[in-house]
Order: sequence, then C-alpha cells, then structure tokens
Amino acid sequence: MARPFIHLSGVKKVYRTRGEEFLAISEATFDVELGELVSLVGPSGCGKTTLLKIIAGLHPHDAGELQIGSDTHPFDPSRDIGMVFQQPLLLKWRRVIDNVLLPAEILGLPLKESRSRARDLLALVGLADAEDNTPTNCRAACSSAPRSRGH
Ligand SMILES: Nc1ncnc2c1ncn2[C@@H]1O[C@H](COP(=O)(O)OP(=O)(O)O)[C@@H](O)[C@H]1O
Ligand SMILES: [Mg+2]
Repeated sequence: MARPFIHLSGVKKVYRTRGEEFLAISEATFDVELGELVSLVGPSGCGKTTLLKIIAGLHPHDAGELQIGSDTHPFDPSRDIGMVFQQPLLLKWRRVIDNVLLPAEILGLPLKESRSRARDLLALVGLADAEDNTPTNCRAACSSAPRSRGH
C-alpha cells in the first residue's frame, strides 16, 4: 500500500517554561492521504495549534513519529506550508504588495515572477487597486490580504 502523505504516530509535545512541564499533546496518531482535506476540531487548549506547528516544522516534538511527503511528492515545510493567522499581522510600514511579497523575499524567490503572482493574489481578494497603499490606509479590506499565500 502507498505511504500516506502525512503520517503521525504517538506524537507527544511537552512545553517547558521556567522549570515547569506542561503536556500539550500525547499519542497523536493519524494519517492524511495526498489530496485529502482534513480539519482538526477540538476545544480551545486541546493542542490543535501545537500539532499544526509541529507538522509545519516550527516546533520540535518530544516523542513519536512524524513523516511528511513521499518520493513522488517531496515536502519542504519552508516552501510548502502556508499559515493564516487568527488576527491580521501585516507590517504597517510596508506597502500592501510588499506585505504579500514578504514570504517570497524571505525564501529568495525571483522577484519579477513573485510580484506578478502577488498581484494575481491581490486581485483574487478584491485588492487589485490597493497594492501601493499601506495596510492602515485600507484597514478593513487588507485584513484579508493573502500574505501567507504569497509563495
Ligand atoms: N508556548 C507555550 N508554552 C507553554 N504552554 C503552551 C504554549 N503554547 C501552548 N501552550 C499550552 O498548550 C495547550 C495547547 O495549546 P494550543 O496548541 O494552542 O491549543 P489549541 O490550538 O487547541 O487551542 C494549552 O493548554 C496551552 O495553554
Ligand atoms: Mg489554536
């Protein structure tokens, strides 16, 4: 049988702050197939964000197995993970287009192609005319600016 795209088995995460240990996740076990759409649902504080950060490579885990990708579909968290924050976190000193371009800049992607992609994404969310504004000049509309999808 083909390997699942995401495989977690017995994943555990303990937060350690000032000598205190807090068990955030234990025994997280599930598979996600390629192309499958999955929602993580649970009460506040049950560990959803922690688990997503582990999958995104932002947090180490303390035990268990985590595999992502396959030979035919290699996976690189820095390129393949997008993050949409719960609150708008735009950099107010950068123009709208420069906010969208931030991930491309960090990854060192070619600027010309990235700019064209950023413009397409802005048009997609109705912000085609706002690219030269700063976020404070188009506050309501910009809260949905697709920075996390800019790459
Ligand atoms: N950086 C941290 N240090 C210590 N405890 C944390 C940290 N981040 C989250 N927690 C705790 O871990 C638990 C899971 O948090 P989280 O993954 O944010 O849950 P959810 O996203 O499901 O609301 C919560 O009890 C939270 O208080
Ligand atoms: Mg959360």
